[in-house]
Amino acid sequence: MLFRFGCLFLSQWKDRRRRDEYRKRAKVEGYRSRAAYKLAQIDSKFKLIRKGDAVVDLCAAPGGWSQYASKKVGEKGRVIAVDKINIKPIEKVTNVCGDITAFDVILKTIEEVLKDEKVDVVLSDCSPSVSGEWSLDHARQIFLAETSLKIAKKILKLGGNFVVKVFQGDLLGEYITKIKRRFSFVKRLKPKASRKKSAEIYIIAKGFR
Ligand SMILES: C[S@@+](CC[C@H](N)C(=O)[O-])C[C@H]1O[C@@H](n2cnc3c(N)ncnc32)[C@H](O)[C@@H]1O
Repeated sequence: MLFRFGCLFLSQWKDRRRRDEYRKRAKVEGYRSRAAYKLAQIDSKFKLIRKGDAVVDLCAAPGGWSQYASKKVGEKGRVIAVDKINIKPIEKVTNVCGDITAFDVILKTIEEVLKDEKVDVVLSDCSPSVSGEWSLDHARQIFLAETSLKIAKKILKLGGNFVVKVFQGDLLGEYITKIKRRFSFVKRLKPKASRKKSAEIYIIAKGFR
């Protein structure tokens, strides 16, 4: 019992230390959130974002993923960052303020910004406001992930890539089945920068068809 308690304490301590390290690193390297390192780790493993790509980043505030994506796509690429809360301007990133669950409205706005061009990558790192009641939070989060997939299906180029955060739970299996129907390659990953204790994982889907 004492041994188990000790192990739990040690793993929580390691988790917190790792979080603090990423937070410090983000400050030094000019990222707005340590979340940027989650995307960097996913991208380094799966090669999702290339120079010149057009990227839509859903649920993007405060903007760490958009900062990373903007560096990756370079001068010839573009990044559109969408969130229901205001995102402080990021150089070479277009901000769209809106609730993604107002699907028709947000899709129209994104399409107007894109001038009806399709994009290479859709990113989604959505978290609902958590209630503490697990099944409700899981359902709300999967709803945001579902909405992100619906948007991705409308704006991705054939062959495009999609990365989405999901909270693990009983609705996840069905959600992954839906992704598999439209992408030729689907994997899951828990990046090192994600807290071990958190229920979040990321689904990486490539080859939109
Ligand atoms: C974990 S944060 C995203 C962090 C971001 N990837 C970064 O690197 O800075 C989750 C975001 O989801 C956004 N969000 C939650 N529900 C939303 C909705 N219905 N529409 C748009 N954004 C939403 C929140 O406002 C919050 O900014």
